Amino acid sequence: MADINIEAARKKLPAKGFLDIVVSPELDLFLEIERLKKEKNAIILAHYYQEADIQDVADYIGDSLGLAQQAEKTKADLIVFAGVHFMAETAKILNPEKKVVLPDLRAGCSLADSAPGYQFRAFKEKYPKHIVISYINCSAEVKALSDIICTSSNAEKIVESIPRDQPIIFAPDRNLGAYLIKKTGRDMVLWDGACMVHEIFSLEKITKMKIRYPNAKLIAHPECEEPVLRLADYIGSTTALLNYSKKDSSMEYIVATETGILHQMQLSSPGKTFIPAPPTNNCACNDCPHMKLNTLEKLYLCMQYEQPELIMDQQLMIAAKKPIERMLEISARYGL
Ligand code: 13P
Ligand code: SF4
Repeated sequence: MADINIEAARKKLPAKGFLDIVVSPELDLFLEIERLKKEKNAIILAHYYQEADIQDVADYIGDSLGLAQQAEKTKADLIVFAGVHFMAETAKILNPEKKVVLPDLRAGCSLADSAPGYQFRAFKEKYPKHIVISYINCSAEVKALSDIICTSSNAEKIVESIPRDQPIIFAPDRNLGAYLIKKTGRDMVLWDGACMVHEIFSLEKITKMKIRYPNAKLIAHPECEEPVLRLADYIGSTTALLNYSKKDSSMEYIVATETGILHQMQLSSPGKTFIPAPPTNNCACNDCPHMKLNTLEKLYLCMQYEQPELIMDQQLMIAAKKPIERMLEISARYGL
């Protein structure tokens, strides 16, 4: 099957994407988006890392697994995906006959970009006896080369579903991979990729913060590096971190993942304090620059004009669908 270089096509887009339109500041975008949802029988699926305004207009807010599950069962005609490219691709693969639009087609992912399809194919050829488990944060090309997909919510169960004598390649996140090796005792071959946001947290600053807030619990996403995970009181996907913060009795949390999740944490537990874990520099590097390319204005425009639309190769979609379906089947079996 030919490699469709969607990544390259995406990067060639002009700075403002397809839509170089000025939106009147007088327009009530919240009302307009609600109107467009009804008019077009559209559903807005948003990841927790989206800005608060986008989360507030979404029909469903979730982690990568929840978003894939919602995409699989939606009856909407138009899927508006407020997230990054690989997430929208997953929605399209599960709904090849539907139109999938996203506010900014350039919203990529450093982790997915770390594993170009042609390099991953060569890597895989070195391990002919291994099966491939790929984290959903990868391109459709890498999915098509994989046996099964996982997310941070179901990764442990997916790894454990593989017979113990079966060797495994895990791609593309080396941090999640190392965490899974530790949790499951499986010796997996890891692709050397990482998320630019989850690698930026400063162990030194987190340690100081724990001294300053002695009652605060550190909760971390498994994409973080091992020394941060070692300090964590709880490790989980964005949904798991949110659920933990709701049920746990502590009143303060240091949150080692992208800052967008704090919006739902604060809404669910208004009396609790959530402190973003500090990055190494004085930057806002714990904001994902890809996720934050999407804005409410761009969301409105993409619904109004149904652009930019995600267009994918049919053969690629067919090949990438199998390992996603396998993941969804196993997740359903475990009630995830
Ligand atoms: P989850 O959505 O599985 O928590 O993963 C977080 C992430 O980095 C998505 O890009
Ligand atoms: Fe990719 Fe990391 Fe951004 Fe998630 S937070 S989209 S893994 S770069």
